[in-house]
Amino acid sequence: MIYVVLGLQFGDEGKGKITDFLSDRFDVVVRFNGGGNAGHTVVDEGKTYKFHLLPSGSLRASTVVLGNGMVIDPVALIEEMKGVENLTTRTRVVISKMAHVVTPIHKTLDSREEQLRGRLSIGTTAQGIGPTYEDKYARTGIRMMDLLDRDIIRDKIETIYRMKEKLLEDTAYSDANAREKVVDELFDAGNKLGKFLQYSEDLIYEEYRKGHNIIFEGAQGTMLDIDFGMYPYVTSSNALSGALSLGAGFPFRKVNTVMGVVKAYVSRVGAGPFPTELTGTAADHLRDLGHEYGTTTGRPRRVGWLDLPMLKYAIKLNDVDTIALTKLDTLGQMDEVKVCTGYSRDGKPLEHIPRTVSETAGLELQFKSFKPWGKIGPDRDGKMVYEDLPAKARDYVEYIEKELGVTVGLISMGESRKSTIERMKH
Ligand code: IMP
Repeated sequence: MIYVVLGLQFGDEGKGKITDFLSDRFDVVVRFNGGGNAGHTVVDEGKTYKFHLLPSGSLRASTVVLGNGMVIDPVALIEEMKGVENLTTRTRVVISKMAHVVTPIHKTLDSREEQLRGRLSIGTTAQGIGPTYEDKYARTGIRMMDLLDRDIIRDKIETIYRMKEKLLEDTAYSDANAREKVVDELFDAGNKLGKFLQYSEDLIYEEYRKGHNIIFEGAQGTMLDIDFGMYPYVTSSNALSGALSLGAGFPFRKVNTVMGVVKAYVSRVGAGPFPTELTGTAADHLRDLGHEYGTTTGRPRRVGWLDLPMLKYAIKLNDVDTIALTKLDTLGQMDEVKVCTGYSRDGKPLEHIPRTVSETAGLELQFKSFKPWGKIGPDRDGKMVYEDLPAKARDYVEYIEKELGVTVGLISMGESRKSTIERMKH
């Protein structure tokens, strides 16, 4: 059984909880894109974990893989690993030798680039993601396997510095001693992580050959994809299901099920178009109900109504088989519930969803309203079945299914693993 779980909106759909829920059925959990910009919250026996680099399935799967498509801050990874009790005794942790390394210099570059973009700034997470992928494609990047050799680290740091000297003017890194300190830190981290480094694509394929179950976990969301998102307000990696082929070295043709995670409304952090965005007190109310504050940056998230045209686009791009719907309980507590059913301009329906700022100008949105269903619960001994949901909530779910032509196989509410309804066996 080979699965991929990924977000169909702007990230923060609740992928962490869904992957964690499914992960005891899988032997291997693999991340294939992004880095510390991701923030996946998982609650286990009352304890909250915020994963940025480790796959969310790390609490329960027997092997976790950080794939080559990721960009990894090795110092942050060591800290994150320490935060999970018995991780390395209970779980086989594998880090791709070929994953690229985020250094403090890349984080400084991220902030500098944002300043220089001025009014075109993206609102990045400042985790060095963009500059690290820039170095990867410029072929000046540092890879995890380089961390085992101090001279290679130094050569690469100095090359990056020479190429980016202008950008790094007046920062701590214009001082050669500060750069040497980065070399030391990276070499030290490399020594600690060396035993986890492997050509992970070989291991993943071997697990597949043995008939083991593998789940690939996407980070960010389809609308943040570097190619298909709302460029330039996107992240620097591909976030689609097919990206696992490149970001983990595993053939996408062998994937059995693509699960798209959809929040019952939409949220977005950072700048960029957001057609169904709410403002004023309704936005404040939804943000507070859903605790919509960034896991990585703490920033308040922008919030808005579910956007069906955008979901249809995401379903097509990712070849989604089934949907995991999250935060249905949150949405039901609004005074009114709306769903965007279409876009038009000058009264004429749009053929494509808008993907740039200029394409969102003058947009008219069509909505369908639903009666709110209020709080959901109490559940049966902490375990719920679909029929426990209020009829109005079920109307919402069934409407979405019908419009999208995809079954909602999982419904997740609240933080606990138990408050997840499984309508289809996965
Ligand atoms: P970057 O990935 O840090 O370069 O940020 C680029 C854009 O993607 C910004 O709008 C971020 O807020 C957004 N972003 C990146 N990662 C995530 C995520 O995991 N969840 C939600 N938004 C994200």
